[in-house]
Amino acid sequence: MFDSPNLTRQTLGSNHCDRAAWQTAGPMPSIAQTNDSCRTSPAADRNKSVILEALQRLLPANGRLLEIASGTGQHAAHCAAGLPGWTWQPSDPDRSALSSIAAWAAQQPSPGLQTPLMLDVLAEPWSLAPDQCFDAVFCANMLHIAPWACCGALMRGAASLLAPQGLLITYGPYRVEGEPIADGNLSFDADLRARNPQWGIRWLHEVTAQANTAGLRLDHRLAMPANNQLLVFAQAGQDA
Ligand SMILES: C[S@@+](CC[C@H](N)C(=O)[O-])C[C@H]1O[C@@H](n2cnc3c(N)ncnc32)[C@H](O)[C@@H]1O
Repeated sequence: MFDSPNLTRQTLGSNHCDRAAWQTAGPMPSIAQTNDSCRTSPAADRNKSVILEALQRLLPANGRLLEIASGTGQHAAHCAAGLPGWTWQPSDPDRSALSSIAAWAAQQPSPGLQTPLMLDVLAEPWSLAPDQCFDAVFCANMLHIAPWACCGALMRGAASLLAPQGLLITYGPYRVEGEPIADGNLSFDADLRARNPQWGIRWLHEVTAQANTAGLRLDHRLAMPANNQLLVFAQAGQDA
């Protein structure tokens, strides 16, 4: 069921959340910009351009995006620059990640790139300002390297914060029933499980089931380089 990438969304729903609520967001757990140096992930360096290209095709010209598990901040810095009509809100539960995200933002500033928030998907409900909502939630490479409970938490949190026409977009490796797993992903999965028994490449149907329970549906699945996939979820009540 790999889709064609002809997925451009021209308009946002008429009743998505009030932009003013976002711009006047109240106190949120965040860190200030620091002088810490940018951490670098070679994988993020390799995939940031293809991820940005996909987001540019999938998303309308303007909106508000919440990134979950921003890690080093390379995706935030690169994608915020390539989506000039968007505010990009990075987040991570790890303080050292927040420092790196802030350092990347300082090195590659974009008007829409926000101060990173401390956000652990398991700390439900997520501590964002009341009435805050987003047109997109993006999460790369968290599901396989976090406990399985993070999947349901991600789905519930995204469903609660997404505007009616909003999208949850996840990126990473997934196992698909009836499709052979690439050798690289097989050894990656074994390595993950050896490092932490709670980690591992997730089954697509199990991820989708968590999404459905939260009120989201899988709309598109795009093949990405290096045996990764981009999953696009929408609010279940909305037209595809
Ligand atoms: C492999 S890194 C991916 C970073 C970045 N998204 C990327 O693709 O390069 C996994 C990230 O998931 C974050 N993470 C782990 N558990 C999490 C949780 N419970 N809630 C939110 N993020 C979490 C980690 O702090 C880390 O930054």
